[in-house]
Amino acid sequence: MSVGPTPSELRIKLMLPEHLESVVLMMREEGWTPTRGDLENVLSYEPEGCYVAEVNGDIVGSVTTTLYTHFGWIGMMMVRKDLRRRHIGSTLLEAALKFFKEKGVPTARLEADPPGVPLYESFGFVKECDSQRWFGKPFKIRNVPGTGRATKVDLDAVLALDKQAFGDDRSRVLRRLFDYSDFAFKVRREPSLGIIMGRKTAAGTMLGPFIAANADVAKRLLRWAVGFIEEGEAYVGIPETSGNARLLLSTQRFRMRTVLTRMYLGDPPRSGNPQFEYGIAASATG
Ligand SMILES: CC(C)(COP(=O)(O)OP(=O)(O)OC[C@H]1O[C@@H](n2cnc3c(N)ncnc32)[C@H](O)[C@@H]1OP(=O)(O)O)[C@@H](O)C(=O)NCCC(=O)NCCS
Repeated sequence: MSVGPTPSELRIKLMLPEHLESVVLMMREEGWTPTRGDLENVLSYEPEGCYVAEVNGDIVGSVTTTLYTHFGWIGMMMVRKDLRRRHIGSTLLEAALKFFKEKGVPTARLEADPPGVPLYESFGFVKECDSQRWFGKPFKIRNVPGTGRATKVDLDAVLALDKQAFGDDRSRVLRRLFDYSDFAFKVRREPSLGIIMGRKTAAGTMLGPFIAANADVAKRLLRWAVGFIEEGEAYVGIPETSGNARLLLSTQRFRMRTVLTRMYLGDPPRSGNPQFEYGIAASATG
């Protein structure tokens, strides 16, 4: 990889719907698998805080932000392969951090793939914990007692628990993902005890957000959800601090395959309660 000067034609622009196709293509070339819908979701949260890098009219980089009450989350950071080490990533990250500063957000958080770690460290980000990705082959189980499809009313019932699990209010993200997911399940009589959503991606069915008040609820939700997956693998993202989730996944024949690094810059983050967190919503938003 060559290290070179920042291209003089570099422009950092607000990310617009018309850029998304180019961003998806750039990411596919890297082996990432987001859909246009994934990008539309993130863009809808902070249309004033998502950016693309443009050189000579080509989209060559991207970054997104999502604001919560106590912290902001950075995602979808990428620079086209042939233009790396020219400070395009830094310029995009500066734009995201400036947006947080303007909004008065004291802490930036993210989940870094290995290539991103040196960039974030060069800005002073420090490691919070590992964030693991666990994969499993679905096994057909139906009729897990007391479990059923969740409605929007059920989602509202679980928001208080989600706030404890995540450490902040992410209700608007959950509402959008609820509409975007292929399925969402709850505990039938007590929807406030947990929820699991699932959506198909090119890497398999992503199970998350997945929160539960206790291990029994989590097990029922997970078994019910994997029973609904027709083909391919299922996967879940969990911070390493979530010991309950690791135990559950390992006993349900999931195996850890990749590890990202959860990092932060600024005030130490207000963490949630890992006891209730069984699956993140998305790397780009936490
Ligand atoms: C991570 C990524 C966005 C960095 O973009 P970039 O434009 O190449 O980064 P920059 O040129 O702004 O790098 C800024 C600093 O970060 C560090 N850095 C970046 N890439 C590095 C590398 N490959 N090795 C060592 N240090 C690196 C250096 O300190 C660099 O400053 P320097 O070049 O003056 O030494 C890019 O490598 C990429 O798109 N990777 C694949 C996608 C990915 O994994 N994204 C991260 C998701 S969290």
